[in-house]
Amino acid sequence: MKANIKQIESTNQPKPFVKWIGGKRSIINELLQRLPKQINNYYEPFVGGGALFFEIYNTVNHSYLSDLNVDLIVTYNTIKSEPKKLIELLSKHKKNHDEEGYYYKIRAMQNLKDPVENSARFIYLMKTCFNGLYRVNKNNEFNTPIGSYKDPNICDKKNILAVTQALKYATIKYQDFTKITPQRGDFVYFDPPYHPTSEDSFTKYLSTGFSEKDQTRLRDFALELIKSGVNVMISNSDAEFIIDIYKKNFNINRVSAPRVVNCKSDKRQSVYEILIRNF
Ligand SMILES: C[S@@+](CC[C@H](N)C(=O)[O-])C[C@H]1O[C@@H](n2cnc3c(N)ncnc32)[C@H](O)[C@@H]1O
Repeated sequence: MKANIKQIESTNQPKPFVKWIGGKRSIINELLQRLPKQINNYYEPFVGGGALFFEIYNTVNHSYLSDLNVDLIVTYNTIKSEPKKLIELLSKHKKNHDEEGYYYKIRAMQNLKDPVENSARFIYLMKTCFNGLYRVNKNNEFNTPIGSYKDPNICDKKNILAVTQALKYATIKYQDFTKITPQRGDFVYFDPPYHPTSEDSFTKYLSTGFSEKDQTRLRDFALELIKSGVNVMISNSDAEFIIDIYKKNFNINRVSAPRVVNCKSDKRQSVYEILIRNF
């Protein structure tokens, strides 16, 4: 019943408000086909752009979204509670974007105190930066250069308002993935930074900040949840190490995912990734 009410309230289908590295829109159907039949509450503790959340939020009771990217979490909370002020600030960014040096002026404004201004800055930079890539330096300062877009959609008012509707039924937190507390009947989708495959370079491995120890910590945490009646699904790369740590206790499916494999030529190629489930 509740799901129907939610469907009526949200006339526009919300979608991720920023493009996120590792975003799941390209394999969304593979995920949707493999969900549990019944979900009470939904948890997405590596939320990123939240592609799966936006597909299923209106079929579950409540959603719990979290991540360790503070700008992202502040922005989810701003869209939930102050969408109008955010839209106003974004339209100003849109107007000023053509001014020379505006991108770099906004990029230099690190640590804005006001959360709404901070969120507007974050969305503006993500929509206009090179490849939509969130990258920070050692001091946690955003340092991606400007991208070359003809007409970036800096102020997508319609989608922001649709996201506000979807977030009415969500709790959003800045926290490590092990801090969630789902109960029997709930469903958790884990989409951690992927383990490198043999084709990935060593640099890429270091830059994810998610080590083999973290991958094992995630597996152990998933095993604990399963014992208490929670259903879990985990995405990862088709890497030997990952298959090894999950093969004993989980079902593993390979799915084909289109990826940009060569940033110079923007060449797309399908690579396999895996979906790990207890059900
Ligand atoms: C692959 S991305 C998630 C992509 C997302 N599912 C989507 O569709 O856009 C991984 C996310 O994990 C977050 N992250 C990294 N380490 C974490 C941790 N220990 N706990 C929670 N989130 C973490 C990163 O900030 C990043 O947003």
